[in-house]
Parts: sequence; C-alpha cells; structure tokens
Amino acid sequence: MVGPEVVDLAQWVRLCGIGEVPAVGQVAELEVGGVGICLANVEGELSAVDNWCPHRRGPLGQGWLEGNAVVCPWHSWMFNLTTGESEYPVHEKVAVFPVRVEGEDVMADVESAPKEKAVTTPE
Ligand code: FES
Repeated sequence: MVGPEVVDLAQWVRLCGIGEVPAVGQVAELEVGGVGICLANVEGELSAVDNWCPHRRGPLGQGWLEGNAVVCPWHSWMFNLTTGESEYPVHEKVAVFPVRVEGEDVMADVESAPKEKAVTTPE
C-alpha cells in the first residue's frame, strides 16, 4: 500500500551573505522578493521573522534584542524569535522563517511569508 505523497513546499531564498549578517546581539532589516524580513543574531544563532509588526507595521528589523525576543522600535511590543509569539502584549504573532547557512549564503524558507507587499513609511 502506498501512503500519501509528501510534497515539500519549502521556498528557500538567499537572504544575504554570511559576512553580511548582523553582529551578535543585533537585528537587521532585509527584503527578498517583496517580503520584509527581520534577521536577528542571538549569541551567534540566526533567526528570521516577518519584519512588519502586527500592531502598526513598525519595522522589527530596526528594533533591538532583549534575550531571545525582538522589540519593535515604535511601541515596544516584543516577539519571541523562536515562536513568533508576542511576549508583550500576548496573543499577537509574527511569522517565523526557518534559516540555514549554505556555504557563504544565508537562506530562509519564506513559503509561509505573508503574501502582501511590504509597506514602508515615507522618509
Ligand atoms: S508598531 Fe510595533 S509596537 Fe506599535
């Protein structure tokens, strides 16, 4: 008997070069294919989450780290980089994208990314 076919829907894209990742304890704002991504470096461990805060779409990649959470620079909501769930306030969430390093490239699986176009604030 043959089981259901397993289809890999992952969509790995190059985020940046290994030499371009944020320093330990820092975050950076990236965009790939219209998807805004906040890349964080927690003690050498890279994490990628949706760049746009669900509160008022503040840029998380311009925020800062507190432990394993990124803090939104606009009104200080905090999102766990492993689960995407907010630590303050509760019941909010951002998408988390798996990250891996392939040679000199940092890759992320953006299949679960919100499909809407990123919004930027005027200069
Ligand atoms: S926009 Fe992020 S906390 Fe308000």
